[in-house]
Amino acid sequence: MVAPKRVAWITGASSGIGRALALRMQADGWTVVASARRADVLAGLRGAEGPAIVPLALDVTDAAAVTQAVQRVRSEVGPIDVAVLSAGTYVPMRAKEFSARVVQDTLSLNTLGVAHCLEALLPGMLERGSGRIVAVASLAGYRGMPTSAAYGASKAAVIHMLEALQPELAGTGVILQVANPGFVRTPLTDHNTFPMPFRMELEGAVAALYAGMQSARFEIVFPRSLALILKVARLLPIGLYLRLMRRIVPKD
Ligand SMILES: NC(=O)c1ccc[n+]([C@@H]2O[C@H](COP(=O)([O-])OP(=O)(O)OC[C@H]3O[C@@H](n4cnc5c(N)ncnc54)[C@H](OP(=O)(O)O)[C@@H]3O)[C@@H](O)[C@H]2O)c1
Repeated sequence: MVAPKRVAWITGASSGIGRALALRMQADGWTVVASARRADVLAGLRGAEGPAIVPLALDVTDAAAVTQAVQRVRSEVGPIDVAVLSAGTYVPMRAKEFSARVVQDTLSLNTLGVAHCLEALLPGMLERGSGRIVAVASLAGYRGMPTSAAYGASKAAVIHMLEALQPELAGTGVILQVANPGFVRTPLTDHNTFPMPFRMELEGAVAALYAGMQSARFEIVFPRSLALILKVARLLPIGLYLRLMRRIVPKD
């Protein structure tokens, strides 16, 4: 018997976590539609034997383009069983160089990019009564951290948005999950000059993400050690928390 086709749509699939997950899922028999802005990089994505990886160039900050892309996937590939929203950026920002433009650009990609995808995906999935959406946020969204004024705010907003939606979707057949990674070795973190405790290699991170996607858990976190520390840190009184954060402010 031929196994039914499973369709995954992954944004941010030209690099890092999204790319590695696209290859992992394709090797596992998924038909993967890979989106990011760089069409040439997507076209070079070659997986194992099996269903092809379908490149679909897309800028997730463009709401109309996201709607069109989702419609195209549905009509040309099939209903989307799983969408993984991994497109994102991190621009470190110090207080002395605070820029509203950086905040705007980061929110536009990391937060509104996810919102555009939710808007395009939810009606079809709700109508079908099935589908899974995994938004990649970050442990940096738990509380404010030095250099993360823009990034942390954008990820906190994603976590908040999904938490707000999940109770309403429970029982509809549409599963919503938020993935909160710690540090993972990808081009996004390669330029960081500060210490990155418990930084994971891509392979382990994607294995944890993919395993979490087989579960019914709302939140997928990895690595567990850093997640545990930051979950405790979330409970600290604000005065104590801020004193601890002072210790990791970059020295220069
Ligand atoms: N690496 C970490 O330590 C870490 C930790 C926590 C959370 N995360 C989150 O995980 C996600 C993936 O990060 P990563 O480490 O894999 O980063 P990455 O290697 O830099 O990949 C980012 C991806 O986003 C795509 N992208 C950027 N702007 C886009 C746009 N406007 N429209 C569509 N795609 C766009 C990029 O492709 P193009 O340039 O081709 O568009 C690329 O494929 C991000 O949301 C990040 O915040 C990462």
